[in-house]
Amino acid sequence: MIQSRNLNTLAHKGLKEPAYGFRVLRKRFESYVNYLFSKSAAALPESITLFLTHRCNLTCKMCGQWGEGGITRKKSAREVREELSLKELKSVIDDIGSFRPNITLFGGEPLLHSGCLDLIRYVKAKFMHCIMITNGFLLDELAGALVDSRIDALNVSLDGGKNVHDEIRGRPGLFEKVTKGLKQVRQMKKRRALKKPLVNLQCTITKYNLRYLEQLIDAAEEVGADSLTFHNLIFVNNHLLHEQKRFDSVLDCASMDWEGFNFKPEIQPKILYEEMKKILSRRYVFNVSFFPDLSLKGLREYYADPSNTLSEYKGRCISPWMAAYVLPQGDVRPCLNSNYSYGNIKKDRFRDLWNGDKARKFRGLLKENRMFPACARCTELFRY
Ligand SMILES: C[S@@+](CC[C@H](N)C(=O)[O-])C[C@H]1O[C@@H](n2cnc3c(N)ncnc32)[C@H](O)[C@@H]1O
Ligand code: SF4
Repeated sequence: MIQSRNLNTLAHKGLKEPAYGFRVLRKRFESYVNYLFSKSAAALPESITLFLTHRCNLTCKMCGQWGEGGITRKKSAREVREELSLKELKSVIDDIGSFRPNITLFGGEPLLHSGCLDLIRYVKAKFMHCIMITNGFLLDELAGALVDSRIDALNVSLDGGKNVHDEIRGRPGLFEKVTKGLKQVRQMKKRRALKKPLVNLQCTITKYNLRYLEQLIDAAEEVGADSLTFHNLIFVNNHLLHEQKRFDSVLDCASMDWEGFNFKPEIQPKILYEEMKKILSRRYVFNVSFFPDLSLKGLREYYADPSNTLSEYKGRCISPWMAAYVLPQGDVRPCLNSNYSYGNIKKDRFRDLWNGDKARKFRGLLKENRMFPACARCTELFRY
């Protein structure tokens, strides 16, 4: 239910938002009991991610969507532009409002969806917890509106100091723009005497910033962040993609979005470990963590070959018992990078899809095999 190496970070989050933390724990416990004792049915999910748009205003080097080998670059313009309208998104919220899952807004860049702010206001009016993962490009324009929307947290991507961030994200001046936006958020919160939105910075570790991770500490201090998480890189290889095809043929689906992550990480575990030690040897007023949280041995397993299972985490996926994704065309999916769909939210009610035949087939096969090959470095594998 909770991977023991995540306990510290979860405890910190729980202290920041105790009622939310308690609700999350309760839901996870319920879902975990279902995972253990039911073959394939699940309690209603703790969280639903709304993938608002494939569109993005950046092309970050390591991104599986828009990066150097990104899969969204290969999609047709029609597919990239496809989005649920605000009206459709509101009706999704009405549909799931009765069990109040936590909502994550994701993309592409979620703030590019023209209805994003209205949607947040609508979610919050239904008393649901709402966070957004954003590249922060539009924060300086939207800081006031975002604070007023009562969104619970902004998870903002920052991959280094000025030069490193701009180089990775391919946009000169971006670091200054994002940090300006974050300072505006802090100012607005102060002016309105609000604690929220919490600001969580997230940095993706790559060969480009490996030696400069400490720059993020200065950035977090500068903008007054609540937390800073360093994410280990997601990547796959040809072998895993090939192995995945066996399962895809049983499920009659394709995992082509994993192809966007088919690259060599070129990260030396020893260097990363030394950087981690330097960062974690000091105390900060904000929480600092690495995810997944690995020792030197764990980092060696992680980066040497994505086919390695990690001895420090349980090698089984229970995410489809805990979470669901709604894609821009309305598909309700267990995972982001496989096109396996439980059905479409434009036609069916979420509750009917969640434990429908397709959902149960997916969970049954997953439980039998503990995890699917392509998912060996998926963040969800290490979350629960
Ligand atoms: C795909 S983006 C979508 C949201 C938004 N566009 C952003 O950049 O925050 C979500 C997060 O995934 C991270 N990310 C991109 N490529 C990654 C990779 N190969 N491994 C791990 N995280 C990655 C990004 O840095 C970002 O923090
Ligand atoms: S901003 Fe986010 S979605 Fe866009 S390219 Fe960068 S990581 Fe990918």
